[in-house]
Amino acid sequence: MAHDHHHKAQRHDHRHDHRQGHHHDHAEIDWSEMAPLLEAGAELYAPLYERALAWLAKQQTAPGLVVDVGSGPGVVSCLLAETFPGARIVAVDGAEPLLARARDRAARLGLADRFGTLAGELPGVLDDLDYPADLLWASRSLHHLGDQRAALAAFASRLAPGGTLAIVEGGLPTRFLPRDIGIGRPGLQARLNAIEEEWFNEMRAALPGTVEETEDWPALLTAAGLAHTRTRSFLLDLPAPAPERARAYVAATLSRTREAVAERLDATDLAALDRLLDPEDRASVHHRPDLFLLTAQTVHTASRPL
Ligand SMILES: C[S@@+](CC[C@H](N)C(=O)[O-])C[C@H]1O[C@@H](n2cnc3c(N)ncnc32)[C@H](O)[C@@H]1O
Repeated sequence: MAHDHHHKAQRHDHRHDHRQGHHHDHAEIDWSEMAPLLEAGAELYAPLYERALAWLAKQQTAPGLVVDVGSGPGVVSCLLAETFPGARIVAVDGAEPLLARARDRAARLGLADRFGTLAGELPGVLDDLDYPADLLWASRSLHHLGDQRAALAAFASRLAPGGTLAIVEGGLPTRFLPRDIGIGRPGLQARLNAIEEEWFNEMRAALPGTVEETEDWPALLTAAGLAHTRTRSFLLDLPAPAPERARAYVAATLSRTREAVAERLDATDLAALDRLLDPEDRASVHHRPDLFLLTAQTVHTASRPL
């Protein structure tokens, strides 16, 4: 209990910081501006999502309506369409420019006749769906909503009886560098991951209507009235030397990290980061032979009782 109290007190301190304007800009995300990065990331992670969707297809065999909640640019929405050839797919997101990309992608892949989009603020926009969904997929979108418990209840209420809710939350932080990279002080990757975790706390604290919640996802799915919870994690393992598109993605995410958290790194780590980002430097992520991409994402599912 003492630990819990201490933890909460710390979280309130963060919120205080926000009111004073510290780090405020860093916690706000312009999703439309992130379109190329979201798209490249999801394309790189496609093998992971394909395995996750194959696992999901064993639980929900022939859905009529599949909704991708917080779809972003629709890479996974299109994988959902391919996994469930009999289904109609609706990609839902707050950022219309991302949905425009999703529609373009669906058209390119010949999926347009059973692909639609719905723009609006989650979770309320789900009320605009014409039918209850047989499968609701929410990948890394729930944690951007202030009240995650209320959002899950809203998601669950849009499911048809026997329908499945699948959320992608948690897993492992993405790793792409060895512990010792021969520049600066060993352990840079772990320190960057720790800073990202702090940034994540601040992002959540700054959300409108934010509610602190113990992130026991199966328990929260059960509290939303769902049953038969299942959890499985899926690995993305691109060993060194990483292919070109993985390097481009790592460079893009790392420069974003640098912009967001530069002031939290000491001079040695900042200098190392700058070398890693310099395309002219043979030790940069663009060229170094030891660059890899390793991560895992966890999928939690539950179904609405018949
Ligand atoms: C991290 S991205 C995940 C995209 C995609 N599902 C994936 O896994 O690659 C989060 C998505 O949620 C959307 N989003 C975040 N907060 C939202 C809100 N309050 N209402 C509607 N969409 C929101 C963003 O526009 C963004 O596309």
